[in-house]
Amino acid sequence: MKISYLGGLTPQQFLQRHWQKKPLLVRNAFPAFRDLLKREQLFDLACRDDVQSRLVLQKRGAWEVSHGPFTSRDFRGRPNSKWTLLVQGVNHVLPQAQRLLLQFSFIPYARLDDLMISYAPPGGGVGAHFDSYDVFLLQGSGRRLWQISKQKDLRLVAGVPLKILKNFKPEQEWVLGMGDMLYLPPHCAHNGVALDGCMTCSIGFRAPSAQELAAQFLIYLQDHLDIRGVYRDPGLTLQQHPAQISDAMLRQATQMLGHIHWGKQDVELFLGRFLSEPKPHVIFQRPSRPLSGKNFYRKCNAQGLYLDLKSQMLFCHDVIFMNGEAFRPGRRAFASLSQLADGRELKPHTDFDQETRVLLYQWYQAGYIKMGCMT
Ligand code: SIN
Ligand code: CO
Repeated sequence: MKISYLGGLTPQQFLQRHWQKKPLLVRNAFPAFRDLLKREQLFDLACRDDVQSRLVLQKRGAWEVSHGPFTSRDFRGRPNSKWTLLVQGVNHVLPQAQRLLLQFSFIPYARLDDLMISYAPPGGGVGAHFDSYDVFLLQGSGRRLWQISKQKDLRLVAGVPLKILKNFKPEQEWVLGMGDMLYLPPHCAHNGVALDGCMTCSIGFRAPSAQELAAQFLIYLQDHLDIRGVYRDPGLTLQQHPAQISDAMLRQATQMLGHIHWGKQDVELFLGRFLSEPKPHVIFQRPSRPLSGKNFYRKCNAQGLYLDLKSQMLFCHDVIFMNGEAFRPGRRAFASLSQLADGRELKPHTDFDQETRVLLYQWYQAGYIKMGCMT
């Protein structure tokens, strides 16, 4: 199906032609788009300690970055030039941001990072840089000039607290207004400068580096390995140098380490846990006075249920991953739980089997799911 916010491409065409390959500008991608929040509400979010935010300042050509939580004083009376406030993870606190993300569900949830919103007064920006992420830059109120370049020279200015390209040579530029959207693949050099007081949403998609994946997999393996045996040397012979590690010792250690094995199933369990793991600052709110199991099911049946905004639910084969934990339910439970993972909600009158009920109740108590429908 052709999608207007992809410039009339079908999701398949977008993936084939643009995803991770080349930029796409879509004028009027979301004609009815309005800011997800007011500037003052964005400032309030930046004052919360469960929300990550940064303030980027340009002072006489020098860059400064400070990290939230901020206080309202940090924004009151701030001169009207050359600064940008960036607030990450707005989808974790605003249902309307989560709803916007659902428009991008033609890309797997496992690739999603978050929805960030920036505000900058005229002249503000974060400098010319590149990201390792795919990003859809959706313009809210105000106008922003975007300059981009396919340049291969991605060297950065040394000694500054943020990534600034040393030699940015813009090749194309556009002024984006409310509802316009620009998709940029990773490593595409770009520079966005606010022309008016300007709000921009960045829908960012993460891509773990091989190094990060390997490091995390080794941590997973450490917790899941069960290797038997103890170093033994009943045939020890006299060594000339007591400080020397002998070849025999080396051989035996190599043999012991050779017992580290992993299979497809380890990779599957690791990946699902890793990709659904909440970021370290994420805290779930448990219900203060939880309902009994019976009342919970009754209410879910009448009102439906939905994933908390912070929850990340994925599945792979017959395993369900919820916020970093793995579950292997039976076929019937898997059918309803995978539906919850895809749609982030279950409509009223879903027929839950006993196993689904038990898991849902457990997740409700942990604050991972809520009753009713997302407001
Ligand atoms: C911004 O919204 O100001 C920055 C987004 C970006 O360039 O990645
Ligand atoms: Co960027």
